Amino acid sequence: MQNIPQPAFYMFMCSVERPPHFPKPSCVNAGTRDLFQHLSQILMQKGVINTVVPVQTGCLNRCSQGPIMIVEPGHFMYTGLNKEKVERIVDEHIIGGKVVSEYLINEFMWGEAISPVDMQKMSGVY
Ligand code: FES
Repeated sequence: MQNIPQPAFYMFMCSVERPPHFPKPSCVNAGTRDLFQHLSQILMQKGVINTVVPVQTGCLNRCSQGPIMIVEPGHFMYTGLNKEKVERIVDEHIIGGKVVSEYLINEFMWGEAISPVDMQKMSGVY
C-alpha cells in the first residue's frame, strides 16, 4: 500500500485583526483582509495546493512588520505582504525553489532562536 505524502511546504499567515484604534498594529485590516484567500486561490490556480498547506495563525509576534507569513521548512519570515508579493513568493520560493530575500524580515528582527532549555534557564523555571 502506498503511503500518503507529507506536504512539501506549510505557509503560516498571521490572521489577527485587532479593533480599530487598538494601540498595537495587526496584520489584518480592511486593506489586507482577503490576503489569505488570495494565497489559497493562487496555490489552487497553480496546481500545488495538495503539497503546499496554507495555514491561518494567531499573532506571530512581529506585528509592526505585518502582514507577515512564515514558510516552513526553513523558518522564512516574509513581511509587509500584499497580493503581488504573495504571488511572487509562490512562484519563486515555493515553485522555483529560490527564496525572495528582499521580502524577508530584517535580521535585527529575526535573530537566532533561543532553545527551550535555555529559555527555561533564562526565565528561572529550572
Ligand atoms: S498581529 Fe500579526 S504578527 Fe502580531
